[in-house]
Amino acid sequence: MRVVALFSALVFGVATFASQAADPIIIKFSHVVAPDTPKGRAADYFKKLAEERSKGRVKVEVYPNSQLYKDREEMEALQIGAVQMLAPSLAKFGPLGVRSFELFDLPYVFPNKETLYRVMDGDIGKKLFGLLDAKGITGLGFWDNGFKQMSSNKPMHSVEDFKGMKMRIQSSKVLEAQMKALGANPQVMAFSEVYSALQQGVVDGTENPMSNLFTQKMHEVQKHLTLSDHGYLGYAVIVNKKFWDDLPADLRTTLDKAMKDTTVFERKIAQEENDEALAKVKAAGTTQVYTLPYKDRVVWQQALLPVHKEFEEKIGRDFIQAAYLTALQVEKEKAAKPAAPAKKDKPGPVKASKPAAEKK
Ligand code: LMR
Repeated sequence: MRVVALFSALVFGVATFASQAADPIIIKFSHVVAPDTPKGRAADYFKKLAEERSKGRVKVEVYPNSQLYKDREEMEALQIGAVQMLAPSLAKFGPLGVRSFELFDLPYVFPNKETLYRVMDGDIGKKLFGLLDAKGITGLGFWDNGFKQMSSNKPMHSVEDFKGMKMRIQSSKVLEAQMKALGANPQVMAFSEVYSALQQGVVDGTENPMSNLFTQKMHEVQKHLTLSDHGYLGYAVIVNKKFWDDLPADLRTTLDKAMKDTTVFERKIAQEENDEALAKVKAAGTTQVYTLPYKDRVVWQQALLPVHKEFEEKIGRDFIQAAYLTALQVEKEKAAKPAAPAKKDKPGPVKASKPAAEKK
C-alpha cells in the first residue's frame, strides 16, 4: 500500500512538475510602436530578463505595432485581462478617468530629463500609480521616449504658422488645449492610423519624438519638421492588478526587479534612439528640418503657458507646482556645480509661482 502511495505521489509529482515546466505563466505585452524604438526594445529586453530570471516560469509574448490592439482598445483589454501588460504613453490615461497623468503633456513644463525622472520616481509618480488601483491596474515603472517635435507639410516657424492646421494628437485634453493655443485644430487619432491620415491629408501634421516619427515612416509624408522640444512623451508600464496580485510572491519579486533593470536600460537608450532617428530623417532628405531658435522658443512658450493654468484643477495644482519646484531644484543644483558652459538652445523651466501652501 505504502509502495503504491509512494509510487503515485512520485508519478503525480513528476506530472505536476512536467505540467509546470510545460505551462509557463503567459504575459501578453501589447504595444503600439515599432520594435526598434525605445519602448519596443525595452519590451523585448524585459521579455529576455523575465524569462531567464524566472527560469522559464513565465513567458512574455510581445505584440508590437498595434498588432493586437489599438490605443484605446488595449487599455480595455488590460482591464478585462485579455492582455497582462502594456506601456501606454502618459497622454493616454485621461479616458480612464485619471487626468493627473496629463501633467506630462503640459507644454514646456519639463526643461530636462533630470527633472522628469525625479518627478516620475518620486512622490508624484507614486501618487499617479496609486490612482490606478481603483481601475484594476498596477503601475510598475515609467519609461522614457523623449521630447516631441512638430511635423507637417507646411513650415512651422512662428506660432501663426499653425493657424487652421489640422494636427493629430493623442487622447489628452492638455494636448487638445495645446494645439488650440497655437491656433491649430486638434484631432484625436489612434497611433496606428496616423501614417495613412498624413498620407491622405486627413490631417496636416502631428507631434512625436523622432523615434516614432522615423519608425512609422511619417517623414516620407511630412515635408517639414520643427525641432521644438515643446512637450514630452513617456510611458507608464502597467499590469492587470488581479493578475499581478495573484502571482506567487517570489515570482512577483523577480519580475519587479527585471522591470527595474529594464527601466534603467530603457532610459539609457531613449536619447540614442531619438538621435539616430533624427540623423536618419535628415539623411532621407524628404523633410526639411528646422531647429526653432531660442528667441522663438520663448515666443512659443508664452503662447502655450496659459494651458498650465487652464489645467490646474484637472491635473491637480499640487502636481504642477511640484513639477515646477523640481525643475527649479535641478537648475539650482546645476548652477551650483562648476559646470561646462551653459547651452543656450533651450528656454529654462517655466517660472514657478509659489507653492499652494505658501500662497494661502
Ligand atoms: C502616439 O500615439 O503618438 C504615441 O503615444 C505612441 C507611443 O506609444 O509612443
